[in-house]
Amino acid sequence: MKIAVNAKELKVDGACAFVPTMGALHAGHASLIKKAREYSDTVVVSIFINPLQFENKDDLAKYPRTPEFDIELASQAGATHLWLPTLDEIYPGEVQKISAGVLGDIYEGVKRPGHFDGVLTVVNRLFELAKPKWAIFGEKDFQQMTLIKSMKSDVEIIGAPTIRDTDGLALSSRNVRLSDPKAALVIYRALLAASKEKSIDSAREAMRGALASEAAFTLDYAEIINESNFEKAVQSDESKRAIIAGWVNGIRLIDNMPMNGGAQ
Ligand code: PAF
Repeated sequence: MKIAVNAKELKVDGACAFVPTMGALHAGHASLIKKAREYSDTVVVSIFINPLQFENKDDLAKYPRTPEFDIELASQAGATHLWLPTLDEIYPGEVQKISAGVLGDIYEGVKRPGHFDGVLTVVNRLFELAKPKWAIFGEKDFQQMTLIKSMKSDVEIIGAPTIRDTDGLALSSRNVRLSDPKAALVIYRALLAASKEKSIDSAREAMRGALASEAAFTLDYAEIINESNFEKAVQSDESKRAIIAGWVNGIRLIDNMPMNGGAQ
């Protein structure tokens, strides 16, 4: 695996598949890299902790950094190029921010104002520099993936399923900061409870009821949405998804699950 600190040094031949990350790689990222290999023999992984998407300076400072482990994982998973851009390469001058529009202001955007503008701005810049043909994003960050898909770009966006640990906890770089990982399992239980219900109202109730049963969990939102527009789902919607965000012992977690089997 070739390691480069600026895009020119990458010297990627032909169409590449791209996996942008902020590091602290885990099995979820490995699955994105493996997915990328289905599209191209040249897979570029970037690690760049983007200050623009952190509205909370403390969160940025505490974001886990595991460079040696990341290099090993990316290489084992099949990355051919690891790109570690500097702040100057990504933001050489005054930053022209991309607006995420109204979808950027709801759900994740409510508690994290400007977050999605920061995500779209960096993804657009990473695309400009790496020039991939495909880019892979995890469904775990469903609102992020939806916004990136709606961004104007020549890059084909590929979604990849959420990877969970054996207990169902969705893998996330934040999980290492969980002092009580068992309490976080309530999110998966709530999603499963919703997926077993026949109507949207009972799915929402089952999901919120399950979440309320865990004292260590503080709810941010739990909703059944129409996944194409993020409006509250109605019974006739084709693609519904349960989305949850909340706090477990000071760590903010998000998760989601398609409701195509249940909540019909
Ligand atoms: O999902 C992430 O890790 C980040 O939001 C991304 C897409 C790499 C942009 O910084």
